[in-house]
Amino acid sequence: MDNRLPIPSPLPRHVACIMDGNGRWAKSRGMMRHKGHRAGADAVNRILDSCLEAGIPWLTLYAFSSENWCRPRVEVEALMHLLHEFLKKEIKTLMSKDIRLHAIGDLSRLPEKTSILLQNTIDQTAGNTSLNLVLALSYGSRAEILRAVRKIAEESRNGKLDPSDITEELFCSHLYTSGMPDPDLLIRTSGENRISNFLLWQISYSEIHVTDTLWPDFTKEDFFEALRDYAGRQRRFGGV
Ligand code: IPE
Ligand code: IPE
Ligand code: MG
Repeated sequence: MDNRLPIPSPLPRHVACIMDGNGRWAKSRGMMRHKGHRAGADAVNRILDSCLEAGIPWLTLYAFSSENWCRPRVEVEALMHLLHEFLKKEIKTLMSKDIRLHAIGDLSRLPEKTSILLQNTIDQTAGNTSLNLVLALSYGSRAEILRAVRKIAEESRNGKLDPSDITEELFCSHLYTSGMPDPDLLIRTSGENRISNFLLWQISYSEIHVTDTLWPDFTKEDFFEALRDYAGRQRRFGGV
């Protein structure tokens, strides 16, 4: 079945998603929360295909926040297991679909075997160009900003830079997202109207689309609906 949809224009160059609602999805079905996370992983594959079909070159997915470490140990373990399985299973897909993997966040907190697998996957996909997939893992925006400030302070103390050298560009180059474009469109599923410590610096001028749909139910149609919403926005960046 050909379910191709018209591609809205203009398209965002970078879409970032706060993939929320896995737990509620499972609960509403009388299932354990980890089943919701598993269903959420299927939604990731649908959205990867949708980005490739539309021709969107950057997709960032908020998969695990620095605050999510506070969840019950069984849930954290289930999420880490799922990440490991995803990387092991999907490397073939990433290669065949020409997707390059990146990761942002405090990766030193990931289980060692997963962090090694992640780095191998990043290295293996480094030559792919159709889509850049950025996984935000153990990611918190405040921590990212503090880390950048610390690095800049250190360089200043060592005489490598002067405070007057600290521009927006220099600051960006010290963030995890160095070299990546800012998101044009931020999608949050599950109806929560909040940012939850995600890309605070980078979304200064992103368009925001919130949908009540829970992440495991999020389909290509929902994604294209968000793209249509974006295409209808007037971005002014403070101008008239
Ligand atoms: C999002 O779903 C996935 C992660 C935060 C890892 P949740 O697990 O937050 O699901 P809800 O919000 O409790 O429904
Ligand atoms: C945001 O969802 C983090 C991810 C989607 C990974 P949360 O469920 O952790 O956020 P809150 O608690 O609703 O703000
Ligand atoms: Mg949530």
